[in-house]
Amino acid sequence: MKYEKVIVKIDYIRINLLSIVLFQSTKENTDNMSGSTRHINMDRVYGGGKKGNIWEDILKLSAENGALNLALGFPDFAPPSHVVEALGHVTSYSNHMIHHYTRAAGHQRFCKILSKLYGRLLKQDIDPMTEVLPTIGAYDALFTTFQSLICPGDEVVLIEPCYEPYIELARLAGASVKYVPLIPKDNSSSSDDWIFDLQTLQAAFSTKTKAIVVNTPMNPLGKVFNRDELQAIADLCVKYDTLCFADEVYQWLVYGNRKHIYIATLDGMAERTINIGSAGKTFSVTGWKTGWAVGPANLMDALQSFHHLTIRGGVSVMQEALAIAFEKEEELLGSEESYYRQLPNEMQNKRDQLVEYLQEAKLDPVMPGGGYFIVANISKLESGNKMEESAQEAFDVKFVKWAIVNKKFTVIPLSIFYSQEHRHLGEKYVRICFAKTDETLRKAKEVLTKWNNSK
Ligand SMILES: Cc1ncc(COP(=O)(O)O)c(C=O)c1O
Repeated sequence: MKYEKVIVKIDYIRINLLSIVLFQSTKENTDNMSGSTRHINMDRVYGGGKKGNIWEDILKLSAENGALNLALGFPDFAPPSHVVEALGHVTSYSNHMIHHYTRAAGHQRFCKILSKLYGRLLKQDIDPMTEVLPTIGAYDALFTTFQSLICPGDEVVLIEPCYEPYIELARLAGASVKYVPLIPKDNSSSSDDWIFDLQTLQAAFSTKTKAIVVNTPMNPLGKVFNRDELQAIADLCVKYDTLCFADEVYQWLVYGNRKHIYIATLDGMAERTINIGSAGKTFSVTGWKTGWAVGPANLMDALQSFHHLTIRGGVSVMQEALAIAFEKEEELLGSEESYYRQLPNEMQNKRDQLVEYLQEAKLDPVMPGGGYFIVANISKLESGNKMEESAQEAFDVKFVKWAIVNKKFTVIPLSIFYSQEHRHLGEKYVRICFAKTDETLRKAKEVLTKWNNSK
């Protein structure tokens, strides 16, 4: 009897506590968001609660301050004229059927030229109907790959700093992630010097490892993985029967004497690699949002089926225009006019210009071997001392906000490209995009040359 009373009392307290907690959390939810959240699957969409979005904060602050924006990864220069002309030509076809649905698993002409291109790049026959899937940008290719091939409970290996959507794509597919950070050698001034520790990589693999994402050239670091590094990854993939999601959207953007190596060309990798590319990055038409996945038929069957269930097709006009553009590039191959050659030449020049301006401002750049971005070390800057103290925020986040307001210069903190556990590794760095016109780079020069003279 005595015990029953105690239990009733404890239950009473528990219910009261529970209602306080519930009231509090409901209040927080409604305070944070306008309207009811009853219909939103918070867990699925936000992963257990809506988090702040640092991108939105930075871009808003940048716009409010009229700051030069080198944060976002897109070129602000014109695409090659033959690509733009192809789109104009396609929209004026007398056969209006080009404006209607095309084959759900990809417009035939586009699939055929992609299979020809990848046949050459991967040195193997690619079937255009069963081994190619055009998508809405490389992002859709990544989403479709994760959703089709990863099951809840699978493990995925990510190499950090990484294109941050991989983390959410893995979560949405129900995977748990093993993170392998790249560690810079002392006094490193090149992205080549950021390397993974082989033992850490080996420890990340087990029989539960379903896939690894290999992004080369890498966003944000611009690292171009060399053959030994790719071979070490490939050996583990073969040993543990692991898939490889090769995000190669910057495949043409390789500088100096580096070479982009397709990991699918290494022994035992063709049958386990999904090669992901982007027309946006290839032809500087990021707004066209057309990409692709190429891989072995047994895996691609899952991707094609998932894509059919969810997106059901792509944009006919874009795929036709891009087919013409790729056909033209096949003709130009090896010549001076080839965009595969022109773009990296121009981009290398832009990289070198921005590196010089950054050095003048003592924003110590890590020379990228490829891609769109330079990562720069901000720890030597005196201006760091002048930033307002905000215990909540990482140093690089504080720096970026300070630079927007005081220098009218917008870049992205590197720590956001790391998992929570390794976020501190990125705190001394920022990411800067150099895929910009000479005019934009001139404005960057103006800001950076005055950097240490102004407040
Ligand atoms: C590494 C990486 N993968 C994929 C994408 C997405 O490419 P797309 O614009 O073709 O969807 C990006 C875009 O910035 C990227 O940097």
